[in-house]
Amino acid sequence: MDEDRRIAAVSEVPTDGTLLFTLRDGFDREEAILVRLGGESGDDAIHAWKNYCQHWTDVRLDKGSGAAVREGEVLCQRHAATFEKGSGLCTHGPCEGAYLEDVAVTVHDDAVYLTEADYEFDGLGPSGDHDLSSGGRIGF
Ligand code: FES
Repeated sequence: MDEDRRIAAVSEVPTDGTLLFTLRDGFDREEAILVRLGGESGDDAIHAWKNYCQHWTDVRLDKGSGAAVREGEVLCQRHAATFEKGSGLCTHGPCEGAYLEDVAVTVHDDAVYLTEADYEFDGLGPSGDHDLSSGGRIGF
């Protein structure tokens, strides 16, 4: 596997949160999150999703310290939409029925690699493109 596309060790991906990373497409950067199923079924698969809610697409799910995960689902803290970790399906909330945008990754030798052809791996953590001085949108 191409070491430039290695995102993280599988053990670094939490089962009770998310791991934020940044993708690069030329000069453009986008954030994505890794999730690990880690269920009682023994399914320890890793999935990656673009880091924005399907209700308001300018709302990040993971703001840098991991998105909240409740009962195996990623929670958007703005209006409490929940997304299945494995499918990206919104099971509850204002965007119920919508899916998170997936990012192709694979696991090799206990590490997660980016396989999405259109992007390069930029690094772990936020893209740095966010205006932290603003509280963002207000209201529903
Ligand atoms: S912005 Fe995520 S539920 Fe409204």
